[in-house]
Amino acid sequence: MSGPFSDITDTVFADKSVLREEHQPNEILERDEEIDEYRHALRDVLFGNDPENVMIYGKAGLGKTAVTMYMMDALLAEVETREAADDLSVHTVNCNGKSLFIVVRTLVNELLPADASPFPRRGLGTGDAFETLYDQLDRIGGTHLFVFDEIDHIDDANTLLYELPRARSNGHIEKARLGLIGISNNYTFRKSLSPKVKDTLMEVEIAFSPYNATELQTILQDRAEDAFVEGGYDQSAIRAAAAIAAQDVGNARQSIDLLRVGAEVAEKNGDSKVTDTHVSRARSLVQRGRLRNRISDQTKHAQYVLEAVARLERDGQTPARSKQIMTTYEGVARSWGTDPLTTLKSIQGHLSELHMLGFFSQHERNEGRSGGHYFEYELDLDAAIVLETRESLELGEDPTAKPLE
Ligand SMILES: Nc1ncnc2c1ncn2[C@@H]1O[C@H](COP(=O)(O)OP(=O)(O)OP(=O)(O)O)[C@@H](O)[C@H]1O
Ligand SMILES: [Mg+2]
Repeated sequence: MSGPFSDITDTVFADKSVLREEHQPNEILERDEEIDEYRHALRDVLFGNDPENVMIYGKAGLGKTAVTMYMMDALLAEVETREAADDLSVHTVNCNGKSLFIVVRTLVNELLPADASPFPRRGLGTGDAFETLYDQLDRIGGTHLFVFDEIDHIDDANTLLYELPRARSNGHIEKARLGLIGISNNYTFRKSLSPKVKDTLMEVEIAFSPYNATELQTILQDRAEDAFVEGGYDQSAIRAAAAIAAQDVGNARQSIDLLRVGAEVAEKNGDSKVTDTHVSRARSLVQRGRLRNRISDQTKHAQYVLEAVARLERDGQTPARSKQIMTTYEGVARSWGTDPLTTLKSIQGHLSELHMLGFFSQHERNEGRSGGHYFEYELDLDAAIVLETRESLELGEDPTAKPLE
């Protein structure tokens, strides 16, 4: 009997999960320098000494999280074999969108004995959560490493970075030893900290540099061997995915996405081998898919403001001041059948939010006493793609569904 699936008999994938975001590679390639710096920063743990605090910096997709997880696993294994080392516990929290209270409560709940009731959501404050955390750390003893991924996203990094590293010297804990590892893709994070924290943190900084095309090829080759069936990919696909990502910002995640989506394009097209043609086609799908998600995460009026700046950009009228953007925005909102917001302040709020989210760049202007002080904005993305994406969102289309020409 034949059904809608019966003619799908082949796949290029041997194990598609190898190309997924969550996949933790068994081997880290092309990060020897970073690994070496990391090794030295953590060596104290092997000898039962207080760990150094470490801050990891680098743009998106450069292996900060992957290398950190790899180092933590390796350190846990090594500590097992060492007499001089104390027992080691590693606690990892992603701080994105979390308050300090939630972060500390998450750690407390991880440390509490299995039969204890969890730390309450309401009623107690951050100070109480820290106190419980310290009690638990001393109860367990040994060395504890706290990994705070995306630490720049926490609402109160100052308190976290002031409290934890000083817990021992302030007498909050006696037995346990603490080390803190912060990961951030914002190089200016340190500058944003209070002088008191900056002076006391004494951290080791490790900077992750962008991958070049050759390095990306090595990483992709390793993945491709596990991900695809024999003969399922052509070297041109690897070269193309590496070259495109290297031209952009050297982001390994992007290069892996290109390879995965390229393979999906090949399959849709009924081809049994992934080539550079499929990867090139994947390029716009990956870009558009990601942009579409970012745009649709915004509120309706923020999207209209974005569309307004994209229209101005297309017409060569940027950088533009907020008043001019507001006029265009009013037209955009009406064209989609919505009453526009009426205050300049609300538009300025959206502009600065969209700037923080990386949609716009913002230029500060000072025109002496008479002109005053104001900002101008321009789009940090391709205006045509933003306008196309906005239109397709309004019309409820899926722009990634274009057939392979
Ligand atoms: N050197 C590497 N070897 C193997 N895989 C890597 C390497 N670097 C990055 N990757 C892979 O690339 C993807 C992105 O890496 P990772 O998540 O570590 O980036 P990141 O620097 O933490 O980025 P972000 O700042 O966006 O969180 C992951 O799937 C990871 O496994
Ligand atoms: Mg990460």
